[in-house]
Amino acid sequence: MNEMNLSNSKRNRDIAPAKGRLGVLLPGMGAVATTLIAGAHLVKKGLAEPIGSLTQMQKIRIGKRTEPRALPIKELVPLAELRDLVFGGWDIIPDNAYETACNAGVLGLDVLSGVRQELESIKPWPGVFEQAYVRRLAGTHIKTGESKMALAEALMDDIKRFLADNELERAVMVWCGSTEVYSEPGPVHQTIEAFEQGLRDSAPEIPPSMIYAYAAIMCGVPCTNGAPNLSVDIPALTELADKRKVPIAGKDFKTGQTMMKTIIAPGLKARMLGLEGWFSTNLIGNKDGEVLDDEGSFKAKEVSKSQVLEAILQPDHYPDLYGDFYHKVRIQYYPPRGDAKEGWDNIDITGWLGQPMQIKVNFLCRDSILAAPIVLDLILFMDLAQRAGMSGIQEWLSFYFKAPMALPTLKPEHDLFIQHLKLTNTLRILAGEELLNHSGLDYYEDERVGAL
Ligand SMILES: NC(=O)c1ccc[n+]([C@@H]2O[C@H](COP(=O)([O-])OP(=O)(O)OC[C@H]3O[C@@H](n4cnc5c(N)ncnc54)[C@H](O)[C@@H]3O)[C@@H](O)[C@H]2O)c1
Repeated sequence: MNEMNLSNSKRNRDIAPAKGRLGVLLPGMGAVATTLIAGAHLVKKGLAEPIGSLTQMQKIRIGKRTEPRALPIKELVPLAELRDLVFGGWDIIPDNAYETACNAGVLGLDVLSGVRQELESIKPWPGVFEQAYVRRLAGTHIKTGESKMALAEALMDDIKRFLADNELERAVMVWCGSTEVYSEPGPVHQTIEAFEQGLRDSAPEIPPSMIYAYAAIMCGVPCTNGAPNLSVDIPALTELADKRKVPIAGKDFKTGQTMMKTIIAPGLKARMLGLEGWFSTNLIGNKDGEVLDDEGSFKAKEVSKSQVLEAILQPDHYPDLYGDFYHKVRIQYYPPRGDAKEGWDNIDITGWLGQPMQIKVNFLCRDSILAAPIVLDLILFMDLAQRAGMSGIQEWLSFYFKAPMALPTLKPEHDLFIQHLKLTNTLRILAGEELLNHSGLDYYEDERVGAL
């Protein structure tokens, strides 16, 4: 079998060109959102490098290893350009993006000064907010309405006005708002009808993030969730997205500690090394950390962070190695640390004859610095998905999420390397190129198997 001739990948899709400008709608214009906006402008001006962004930096191998081509992703598939992005969004505090970026302290004033004007021009629209869902925040810049349906309609008006004012035909929404308290899907979340009735009745089970997601889908805007709360991840909204042919994806950006976890765990499993326990703690001092200091918001994050090991290690297949490991995740709010999060991991593993070993990881990362390129890639890939006629859950973007959405009949994929292959092979399919399986056998067995 030929390595490059694996499947029916010659299914070159019709992809509408990335014509005109692309609107970027951000509910929640805090540290992540303003670091993204500042970065996009700085890169556009040639003042900084888009490090960490696959759409801007990664090359994908096309063709056989004997005559390889390495194409930048943005040449392989038609993506919107940074210069075509127009930013808008909502927040429950009225500060413009420059003021917020200064307060967040992710980028220094020396860096921000290069894009001060662009940031100052972005003033958030009043948000849809309910304090029961983010108990540590009290907003002052908030919409009022007779029902949650009226609030959804007000958001749709914002979206339509933004598109019209900026002469945009396309937009993408990425939830960068605070983590809402943990909740599980209930009856009101099961069907479109029940959900819309719930909006009209202002059902307490419908949090603001779902109202934004509903408004986006109703406007035909692809919708992505960067936080661990449910938002678009409920049957009613996935059904609505399918029906309206809108791509959706989530949830919870995979940045610091979980990214490391999904790099290390597949390695341990590949080597058949056992796991006794994995203790992870984070020190974080930004506003996100303050919100997560509340038990309800932390629970949403804890659930999203906790699933990855079990999904990767498959204890049901390997009960002797992974049947009984102890996994604990903590987040400690520690204001002096600011956005510069410190992750500590202690990993107790076992080797040959059950002998114990330990791995320690101390990741001094920068939360929003890791998140911003993820948001940029999601914006560009979600827009690509829509132009390629892909709708509903975009599982190929699992790479970017701690708790990737998948069909109820499928287990989500958490292994970063499988996620990466899923993403790059999907791009190959979109470009009409052959898929890669990396077996390499065709270079040695060509004659025997009669491959091309
Ligand atoms: N930075 C990371 O590495 C990372 C990783 C994964 C997930 N996340 C998630 O991304 C989100 C943003 O993170 P951040 O560091 O920018 O947080 P942040 O606190 O700096 O920003 C969140 C913003 O959302 C606003 N907000 C809250 N509820 C809102 C609502 N209903 N409508 C409009 N605005 C609202 C807040 O006022 C705030 O300005 C959080 O949910 C966080 O958990 C971040």
